[in-house]
Amino acid sequence: MSVKIAIIGGTGVYDPTMLTDLRQVEVDTVYGKVAIKVGRYQEKEVAFLQRHGEGHSVPPHLINYRANILALKKLGVRQIIATAAVGSLDMKLEAGHLVVVHDFLDFTKVRPTTFFDGGEAGVVHTDFTYPYCPRLRNVLLEAGRQESLTIHDSAVYVCTEGPRFETPTEIKMYQNFGGHLVGMTSVPEVLLAREAEICYATVAMVTNYGAGISPQPLTHMEVLEAMDANKENIKSLAMKTIEL
Ligand code: HPA
Repeated sequence: MSVKIAIIGGTGVYDPTMLTDLRQVEVDTVYGKVAIKVGRYQEKEVAFLQRHGEGHSVPPHLINYRANILALKKLGVRQIIATAAVGSLDMKLEAGHLVVVHDFLDFTKVRPTTFFDGGEAGVVHTDFTYPYCPRLRNVLLEAGRQESLTIHDSAVYVCTEGPRFETPTEIKMYQNFGGHLVGMTSVPEVLLAREAEICYATVAMVTNYGAGISPQPLTHMEVLEAMDANKENIKSLAMKTIEL
C-alpha cells in the first residue's frame, strides 16, 4: 500500500466518507499507536487522521503530534493537507472564509516540538523561511478558485497553548505582532512535518472573531456550529486539491 497524501482533520472535520474502500489502520510508532483511516479518491490512496482523536476526545495541548506525524510518514505520506478551525484577528477574514496560512507565531508552552532531542536523534536546526509548503499552498488556492470558494491566500496563524480561549488584551497583542488568525494546533504539527520532510499546508476555516473583537463570550459550540455550516466547503477544497 502506498499512501502519498493525508488529510489531518481538525475540529469539525471528522467525516472521511468522500473516500471509498475505507479501512482503519493502526500504526505503531516510538511515540505511541495512531489510528488512521485509509481510503481511495480517484485512484489515489488517501489517509485521514482525526487530530483530536475519535469523538474529539483529545485537547490541543495533549495531542500526540509526534506520533501522528511519524505514523503518516511510516505510511509513506509525502503531502499533508491540515484543516484548522480558527478565530480571526482581521475584520476582512470573516466567519466561513477559508484561509491558506503562510506563516505562524508560536505561543505554545508545554508541547514537545521536535523529533531531534539530541542523543541518537541528533541536534538539527530546521529552516522555516517558508513555514508552510509553497507548492501545496498554491494547489489549495487553485482548488479554491476552481470550486468558487472565498479563500484568502496568506495569513499569519498565532498558535496558543489553549485549551482556553484568549483574553481581549492577548488578542490585541497578537494583532500588534502581525497575527491574522488564532488557533491552538498548527504548532508543533507544522514543525514536525517539516522535520519529517513532508510537504505540509494548512487551510484554516474562520469560525469567529477573536475575544474582545467579538463582543459576546466565545464558546466551543459556536466554533462547532460554524464548522458544521461550512464543512462541505473544506471537503470540496480538500478533494479538489487531491485531484489537482
Ligand atoms: N481562539 C483560539 N482557537 C480557536 C478560536 C479562537 O478564537 N476559534 C477557533 N479556534
